[in-house]
Amino acid sequence: MMIALTKVTASAPGKVALFGEHAVVYGHQAMAGAIDRRVRVTVEQRSDDLIKIHAMDLSIPGIVLTIGGLGKDVSIETDYVRIMDAVGYIRKAIEVTSSHCGIKKGINVHIKSEMPVGAGLGTSAAVSVATILAYSTAMGHELKSDEVSALGHKVELEVQGAASPMDTAVATRGGILLIRPLIGKASITPVKVEQGLPLVVGYTPRECGTGEMLRRVRNLRDAAPESVDSILCSIGKVVSEADSAMRSGDLRRVGMLMNVNHGLLESIGVSTKKLNEMVYSARSAGALGSKLTGAGGGGCAIALCPGREQDVMTALSLAGGTAFRSSISGKGACIEKGESS
Ligand code: MEV
Repeated sequence: MMIALTKVTASAPGKVALFGEHAVVYGHQAMAGAIDRRVRVTVEQRSDDLIKIHAMDLSIPGIVLTIGGLGKDVSIETDYVRIMDAVGYIRKAIEVTSSHCGIKKGINVHIKSEMPVGAGLGTSAAVSVATILAYSTAMGHELKSDEVSALGHKVELEVQGAASPMDTAVATRGGILLIRPLIGKASITPVKVEQGLPLVVGYTPRECGTGEMLRRVRNLRDAAPESVDSILCSIGKVVSEADSAMRSGDLRRVGMLMNVNHGLLESIGVSTKKLNEMVYSARSAGALGSKLTGAGGGGCAIALCPGREQDVMTALSLAGGTAFRSSISGKGACIEKGESS
């Protein structure tokens, strides 16, 4: 047990799903990498049991929300559906940490994000993991990295109804990870890419959240189990070919496999017209490969484009997206600041 602190700031990175999203929820392997944009969560002790969440910089209008104590209901009216999604993850993260560590103390929570929330860049995992780390540390509990990641996975499972351990593992550890979801415990291995992975991300607002996209894939699989299972299985095979291409530094092959993965994701209904336009315009502008990333239904596309970043950013903007460069970051979740009174 460490000393409790009055104020703690923790941060966690966003992620791009490089290969295997959706299929990973059905036990196939996937590969994802942490990006150089982070979510910061500051937790401040209160003298009562209220939880007050300040979410003022989430690329959508800010909001302050007060919850009447741990485990009690939130009452709020808002049009900002995505903020309510983010608040759901923060609340659940506080709840699971409170019951895991046996703590029951009120806090003020301040969230800031360097990336759009709910866009498919793993902000829900980053928010959950950073909240778990900041809250437990403020209360004097030192959690192991595996515990943080497992609690984060529990948050996603409970909020979304289904989730793989991929996003929370990446938010906790950083770097590129190969995730094999085995029964009981996932096998997670770091993937080193010597020459780096120059990516451009294109963002458009999402039509629906991760939970809804997961439900749609489940419904499609229920309606056509053999076809959908064979597509999910093919996605798993793309991931193992991508793993060898990554390890041998063959970026052309990595790009080609991103294109194959996008086609397979489209066939299970998670792409949109806008995402396809971004994906194809990136390829026309010289990307080695491009695909949607994350749960889909809008959100983000990624393009692998060494030396052609500017051209691809222009193409993504012309296709109606907001484009930014992104690189893989080895920095996982961490405590940035702790203060005692
Ligand atoms: C979402 O970032 C990735 C999905 O595969 C869901 C998950 O792995 O939990 C769609």
